[in-house]
Amino acid sequence: MPDHLHLNLFTMASVEHVSPGSWTFPGDRSPEYADREYWTEVARTAERGGFDAVFFADVRGIYDVYGDDRHTAVEKGVQTPASDPQLVVPAMAEVTDDLGFAVTRSTTYTHPYQLAREFSTLDHLTDGRIAINVVTSYLQSAAENLGLSERMDKQTRYDRADEFLDVCYKLWEESWDDDAVEVDREAGRYTDPEKVSAIAHEGEHFSVPGPHGCEPSPQRTPVVYQAGSSDRGREFAAANAEAVFASQPTEEGVREYMADVKSRAADHGRDPESLKFFIGVVPVVGETQAIAEAKHEEYTRHVDVEATLALLSGFLDMDLSELDPDQKVEHIETDAIQGTMNAFTKAQPDREWTVREVAEFCGLGTTSPTIVGTPEVVADELAYWHEEVGVHGFNVKEVVRPDSLTDFVDLVVPELRERGLVPDPDDAGDAPRGDGTLRERLLGEGQSRLRDDHPARR
Ligand SMILES: Cc1cc2nc3c(=O)[nH]c(=O)nc-3n(C[C@H](O)[C@H](O)[C@H](O)COP(=O)(O)O)c2cc1C
Repeated sequence: MPDHLHLNLFTMASVEHVSPGSWTFPGDRSPEYADREYWTEVARTAERGGFDAVFFADVRGIYDVYGDDRHTAVEKGVQTPASDPQLVVPAMAEVTDDLGFAVTRSTTYTHPYQLAREFSTLDHLTDGRIAINVVTSYLQSAAENLGLSERMDKQTRYDRADEFLDVCYKLWEESWDDDAVEVDREAGRYTDPEKVSAIAHEGEHFSVPGPHGCEPSPQRTPVVYQAGSSDRGREFAAANAEAVFASQPTEEGVREYMADVKSRAADHGRDPESLKFFIGVVPVVGETQAIAEAKHEEYTRHVDVEATLALLSGFLDMDLSELDPDQKVEHIETDAIQGTMNAFTKAQPDREWTVREVAEFCGLGTTSPTIVGTPEVVADELAYWHEEVGVHGFNVKEVVRPDSLTDFVDLVVPELRERGLVPDPDDAGDAPRGDGTLRERLLGEGQSRLRDDHPARR
């Protein structure tokens, strides 16, 4: 594995992301999620720790599947309340030079012309440090609040997402020539009209004549992240994603997922080795093994099992309050998040999970592996995934905020730097800071634009 490993801080502009109940931990600062200072501090810490990006999850709607009621989600802060992460990014970008920002956006509840404009603006303002995590959304309550009586079925959501990105790609990649903007004061010509084209998109879901309203930004198309795990989701990732979130809970599952998505990417004419695969991890770090284990025990005590069930009920679109806690989880094809379902029904064919076991397992970071130990133990585990399994990077999930991040940055990152797994800023020579785009960080210098083999370029 020639490249160094890549790090995203996987978080949410909410009181809680994927460790339900951890905001009750004494000293946890999650209730500051709506404050600018909280996020500027996170940004500075992540940049100091060599993170490539802060990756914001985001949902529309509320987790009201559990008990067919929103009460638990609201009372216990299950990804509620939450701010719009896209609006948090400029403050974080202002205090950093190199850190990227991956923002989750749904193709189901917005319009591509509008979204293309927002991301061109963010890409300009951040000097090319933007990625979009493309999702199709899974909560029925989102559909109801955003003008639909019913959530679209998954096939329709992904069909719409295909066309959505097609429109965005045309706006970002084709509409304006690189040298369209002239700013010729003498001639009074700001832009050469011959170098700005309509896109004339007419499809099943959208009619967008264009042209794009923004001039080309440093990356034109933001880096595309994706986390689909159903058959249709994998196909969508293979066609579009540059960074893919493999959420399988076992090594075997991750290997299978990567091989499958790579093979599908090759079918789309892409170099499969250009896709970067990330897995989620939940590091719980201490100066000694005993300290780490004590922390883990304390963190586990703050897991709120009912809140976890409310979160999972939304992920699975299945009311877990109706099931006996000792009942075995049966596989279904869900219209919500298939990956979460598969984690407990398919990933380990020999293992049966009860509802109670799933809730306890998912309380710290849902389906991602928790790594408890010294900086050396955590670094060994990350190195194994990187060097032996071929994973390119990690979505680091927090439990207690910001301690999980600061522990990782202060304890694990020095160890990773020592081993050459994360670049050491002291070795960067005279390279100026803020000199690269997020895509360059992932693919290498000079690669700010989508690769030529990406379907959007052909
Ligand atoms: C690890 C992981 C993180 C996700 N994060 C989000 C998110 O922040 N917001 C969202 O609406 N969907 C999110 N999703 C949902 C997926 O992007 C996708 O839309 C959903 O899983 C349905 O497709 P699938 O069954 O193909 O996975 C996530 C899925 C996974 C597995």
